[in-house]
This record gives sequence, structure tokens and C-alpha cells, in this order.
Amino acid sequence: MFAHGGCVEPGRERGRRPSAGVAMSGCSATELHPAEETLGWSRADLAGVGASGLRDLYRGEPVLSAEIERLFHREWILVSSIERLPAVGSYQSVDLCGAPVVLVRVGEESIRAYHNLCPHRGLPIFSGEGDGGRFVTCPYHQWSFRITGELASLPQREQFSGADLDCVSLAEVDLGIWNGLIFVRLGSGGGEFGELVGDLDRRMSTFLAGPLVEVAQLSFEIESNWKFLVENHVDVYHLWYLHAKTLAAFDHARFEWERCGRGWWSFEPPKAPRHQPPLLHWLPEAEAEGLGAHLIFPNTMVVTSSSCVAAYDVRPVSPTRSKVTLRVRSVLGADPEALVEEIKAFLSEDVEVCEGLQLGAASPAFKLGPLASRHEQPLRHFHEELRASLLLQGE
Ligand code: FES
Ligand SMILES: [Fe+2]
Repeated sequence: MFAHGGCVEPGRERGRRPSAGVAMSGCSATELHPAEETLGWSRADLAGVGASGLRDLYRGEPVLSAEIERLFHREWILVSSIERLPAVGSYQSVDLCGAPVVLVRVGEESIRAYHNLCPHRGLPIFSGEGDGGRFVTCPYHQWSFRITGELASLPQREQFSGADLDCVSLAEVDLGIWNGLIFVRLGSGGGEFGELVGDLDRRMSTFLAGPLVEVAQLSFEIESNWKFLVENHVDVYHLWYLHAKTLAAFDHARFEWERCGRGWWSFEPPKAPRHQPPLLHWLPEAEAEGLGAHLIFPNTMVVTSSSCVAAYDVRPVSPTRSKVTLRVRSVLGADPEALVEEIKAFLSEDVEVCEGLQLGAASPAFKLGPLASRHEQPLRHFHEELRASLLLQGE
């Protein structure tokens, strides 16, 4: 009945006891983890985001619509870095999962975000990025705005005598800056910005203590649902195996991690001291040769090493395709190509697996088995936070 080493369908043998002399196999463990509940999603939870099963989480249009509406258009999302806005008047337009947004430097120390929509008829005013000076003019009917948002002039003003033009302005969006990274929030979810990054700021304080600047940035698309890359990032279990060569220098057995606000913090030391002075020369010895991986919920992954603090965010393009943007911060004069290669060495292995998981999710047989109790626990934490965002509207 209990074939050695085999597994029964979840629930099929529930209530039965193995007969005397039959060893307990892994089957009982499987029974404790019905597929839909492995990541904590009950059937009711799945139905709440328009999914009829676990596969839909990674392939379904209704799930992606819920994620965009309730997460990407409601909570704090990374969109840029301060180096992209070098001078007063510099602007950068951003497509945030279909929502046009623009970032503008309005003062030496001040950056604002607006919905990139003309208040007249809704045309996006800014396109691309550049230096627009102190005013921006909409090409449709030439309404002109100060970069601080106020309407400055419009043609044929007498035709609007009944309108309160003093109230017409570009609509501002919440903006937060952490370690040179610019986040915006289109809705009111996710709590205060300080709460989002506060714990990680404390845990990463030694890395952030020095003069970091963005030395490299690149974007690329992957054939994978965005969540697979986040799950992979917080998966400790795979380090020994998938990265057997690329991360061989680090002592995974001494990997430490903790839940950090809604995100995650981790650190692992090297197997043996390499006695090389770190590029981030202010790091204390205990951290100078280790590797850290961190998550700012929901989609910003951060890596800290002796040479850089790199952030890569993943945003959905479709249920099965995502855009990744890597931003590397280090000391002025650091070799950007060498730093990008350092990250790409293991990230390309991760991407290959994520694209494979996406192929797996296309199968009608796709389901999950039990997860490692400690080294895969952060995946469950991530999904717990995800459910809180997607299912607890209005709280
Ligand atoms: S839509 Fe911009 S001026 Fe009319
Ligand atoms: Fe990895």
C-alpha cells in the first residue's frame, strides 16, 4: 500500500495508518502539504485573485490584473535612481505597469513624481527622458506647466472663463528615496515609505555608510512570471546546487537570514578569508568578504558584496514575461563591466531556472511538493505578504 519511497496523492490515504512492519515513507509529509497550500494559498485565497489553481498564479491574466491593480498601482514600487535626474529640469518618464508616471528634479535637493497626464484631456506630456528646463508644454493644445506642477499658461484663455484654472495642475504622486533608489506609490497601500525600508536600512547600515553612486544600469526581459524571480531570490536551499560554481566561495551552512519588515535580509560569510581589501573600503572586516541578499517587498531584490550594492527589480510585462532592471551602486571610478559580470554570473543561472519553472507551470500536472522548513521558508513569507496585499483590500 505504501510503496517504499513513493508518494500518495494528497488526502487520498488520509486517515489510514501504515500496517505493522511497514516503514513510514515521505508520503505522510506530502499529505501535510496539499499542493495548493504549500505556499499558504487556500482555494478560497486563489479564487479571491481569480485563480482556479496554483498554475493560474503564474499564468493567469486575472491574477496579473489583480497584482497590477492592488499591488503595483497601489504600493511602493522602485522606478528609478537619482543619478538619472542630474540637474534641475531633468525628467524621466516611466511606464509603471501601464500607468504613465514622470519623475522631475524640481530643485537641487528635490525630486517630484507626477502622473504623466495632461490635466486637460489626459495626454501624457513628458516622453522619454532629458532636460526640459523649468516648464513643460503639452503638444495637443499647448497648455504649459511649471515643473513644480502649476498651470502657467494656455492659449485662448478667454474660453475657460468659467473654469477654476488655479486648481489645474499636474497630479503629484507619492515618492520615496532610499539609498539613491526612487520609489513611487500610485495608491495608498503598503504603509509609510519609512516602514518599507526602515528595518533593511538598519541591517545594511555598514554597506550604506559610504559614498555609493550608480555605476551601471541595464534592463532585460525574461520569459518568466515576475514572482518566480522573487521566490528564487529568497530561496536559500538552491545556493549549494544551482550556484555550486559561481557562489562556491561562500559558506552557505552559515547563511543567516531574517524577516525584515515586509521583506528579507540575509548574509553569508566566505568559506575562507580572501584577504583582499574590499572595493567598499569602509566595510568592517566581518562583512567585507561576505555576500548578502535582501528583498524590499514586493519586487526589489538587493545584493550586497565587498564591491557593490546592487538592486534589481522585476516588473510584469505579461503573466509569462517580465522586465528586470539591474542598478549597481559602488564607489566612483569602479569598473562597471566587472561589477555587472559579478552579478550576472549567478543571476543568469537564476533566470534560466525561472524560465524553466515557467515552462513547468504550463503543464496541467504542475504542482508543488513540500518545501524545506528553514531554507525555503522565505518563499512562504513572500506569499504571505503578497496575499495580504491582494486579498485584504481596505484594511
Ligand atoms: S490634452 Fe494637453 S493641452 Fe489639451
Ligand atoms: Fe540564485
